[in-house]
Order: sequence, then C-alpha cells, then structure tokens
Amino acid sequence: MTELNPTSAAGTAPVASTRAGAPAALLASNLVKYYDDGANRIDVLRDVSFSVEQGEMVAIVGASGSGKSTLLHILGLLDVPTSGSVTVAGESAEGLSESKKSALRNRSLGFVYQFHHLLAEFSALDNVAMPLIVRRESRSVARDRAREVLGLVGLAARADHYPGQLSGGERQRVALARALVTRPACVLADEPTGNLDRNTAQAMFELLSRVNQESGTAFAIVTHDPVLAQRADRQLVMEGGRLVSG
Ligand SMILES: Nc1ncnc2c1ncn2[C@@H]1O[C@H](COP(=O)(O)OP(=O)(O)OP(=O)(O)O)[C@@H](O)[C@H]1O
Ligand SMILES: [Mg+2]
Repeated sequence: MTELNPTSAAGTAPVASTRAGAPAALLASNLVKYYDDGANRIDVLRDVSFSVEQGEMVAIVGASGSGKSTLLHILGLLDVPTSGSVTVAGESAEGLSESKKSALRNRSLGFVYQFHHLLAEFSALDNVAMPLIVRRESRSVARDRAREVLGLVGLAARADHYPGQLSGGERQRVALARALVTRPACVLADEPTGNLDRNTAQAMFELLSRVNQESGTAFAIVTHDPVLAQRADRQLVMEGGRLVSG
C-alpha cells in the first residue's frame, strides 16, 4: 500500500541480541593526534585502532611520552583527535556538539585518575553521588545509589568522611565508586595506583578486577606497573604514538 514497509528485511535488519553481537564498550578507529605550531609538528598518536569489548579489562602500557594519557583523554571525549573517531557503547562521538558529548560521557564512561580529584568540601557520599546529581537524579536517589557503590568498594563506613579524613587508598576507592555510580559501559583509569604504595596499589588493582568481574563494567587502565598490567585480560603496548601490540 505504501513504499515503506516496516516489516521489510531492511526494517528488521540486524538486532544485536547476544553479548557477542553487542557493540564494543569502546572503539577507537584510526586515531591520529598531532600538535603543529607552524615550525614543528609533534606526532602523538599515529593511526591507533582497537576496541575494548563489553566487560573486558585492558591495560595500556608504554614508556613515558608514548601517548597513553593523550589516548585516554581522546577515548574519554575530553580531547579531540586530529583525525579518526571514537565510538562509545555503539554511539559515535564524531561531530557531536559539546553538550551531546558531555551527555554521552556522563551516560557511558567513568574516570579514575592518578590523583583522586575528589572535592574537598563534600563528603565521600556526596562526591560519589555527584555524577548522578549532574544527570539531574533526585538527591535521595543519587545518595542511595552512592551508598550502594561505596559498599561495593568496601567503604560504607566512611560515607560521611571528607577526603581530608581518608587515606590515599581510601580516596582512590571513593574515586572508583564515583566512576561506577552511573553504571558506565567503560571506566577509563590513568595510573589509578600510581600514587599508592605497593600493597595499597595491589589491593586497589584487586578491587578493580573484582568490580570488573562482578559488575561487567569494562576497564581501560593505563599503568606503569608490569605486574598489575599482566593481570588484565589484554595488554595494549604503546610505542612512540603507535600501538605495537594488543
Ligand atoms: N598540548 C601539547 N602540545 C604539544 N605536545 C604535547 C601536548 N600534550 C602532550 N604532548 C606530547 O605528547 C606526547 C605524549 O604525551 P602523553 O601525556 O600522552 O604521554 P604518556 O604516555 O601519558 O606519558 P607518561 O607515562 O609520562 O604519563 C609527549 O611527548 C608530550 O610531550
Ligand atoms: Mg600519562
């Protein structure tokens, strides 16, 4: 009766119904990044492509200056590539306005840095609830969920403490809880154990592995620690802006 038939093959074409068919948590396609001040060009990323599958834990390793943080910032939609594209949970970030990019970031990604970046004037609970408040969840829903995630990282008893009243390892666990509170497809972590002593770093990495397994959240973790990196599902090795293995 009309040209448009909603039940045609085209209309019902591939619906990913299995985990194997589901979109990657993160997809980097031909990422290039360089800085050019007219006199000099610094090539930071040279055609980097890879994916992080749903539920996968990937370690990104490489010498200082090889481009790991730049890569993570681009994957996290905090920086733009010179060319190439990033797809987060099946949604391409290419050409998105800043507000749409922020929304995609808030919906699908979480971040943990070497230094916790917690807000000193807010309690652990309110720091963790913050991404949900930004998303306009009600304060009570945000706090309930924050309490739940603080429990997941073993800090239920510290919910009312301020960052200044927590140890370095505890602050990193609060930062992890804040990254997880929105149930992101992928958490991006840049040296999350870089500021911790050996034992605390080990405990933090064990926590990351456990959360990865229990929640199915994918992780992309930059680390200088080869022992920790080996415990990821896969290692991506950066060398001079290229991915040389992974
Ligand atoms: N804004 C910028 N302008 C020019 N060069 C830059 C800029 N930002 C980064 N770079 C260069 O890009 C390269 C990669 O930096 P990046 O921070 O990604 O390295 P990294 O692998 O994270 O190193 P590290 O292990 O020391 O943290 C470095 O050589 C750096 O000097
Ligand atoms: Mg770095």
